[in-house]
Amino acid sequence: MTERTLVLVKPDGVARNLIGECLARIERKGLKLVAVELRTVDRALAAQHYAEHDGKPFFESLLEFITSGPVLAAVAEGPRAIAAWRQLAGGTDPVEKAAPGSIRGDFGLETQANLVHGSDSPESSAREIKLWFPDL
Ligand code: CMP
Repeated sequence: MTERTLVLVKPDGVARNLIGECLARIERKGLKLVAVELRTVDRALAAQHYAEHDGKPFFESLLEFITSGPVLAAVAEGPRAIAAWRQLAGGTDPVEKAAPGSIRGDFGLETQANLVHGSDSPESSAREIKLWFPDL
């Protein structure tokens, strides 16, 4: 089934010049990029995007981190795009969970500054794409 997923290359990934690496992996996997935009995230968008984490101990520092520099936001489309992008990204903890060969497994060390974000379900994908790309 064709799906869409939100793709973020977070401020650490942008600062480390990993935009091309991440987008190349998405394209090589066979997913199609249907929107790509470099943007600065304000606190309101960050808080809405991460609303499910409101109240968690890392919420405030997560908002500070995601608003700390430019973010690459994109939408990738294809069969099982949500799971496919999560596979490419690897588990949230780049050391304990992300497999070598995944983006986080290959390039990450920290759970917060873990380079990329992907929607985790069709519901969150629909919500996140509407939030980041309301005109799409
Ligand atoms: P992401 O996939 O964008 O979804 C939620 C984000 O919160 C996650 O990636 C990390 O950047 C961050 N995160 C999740 N768990 C923790 C944690 N235990 N400590 C700090 N940051 C976290």
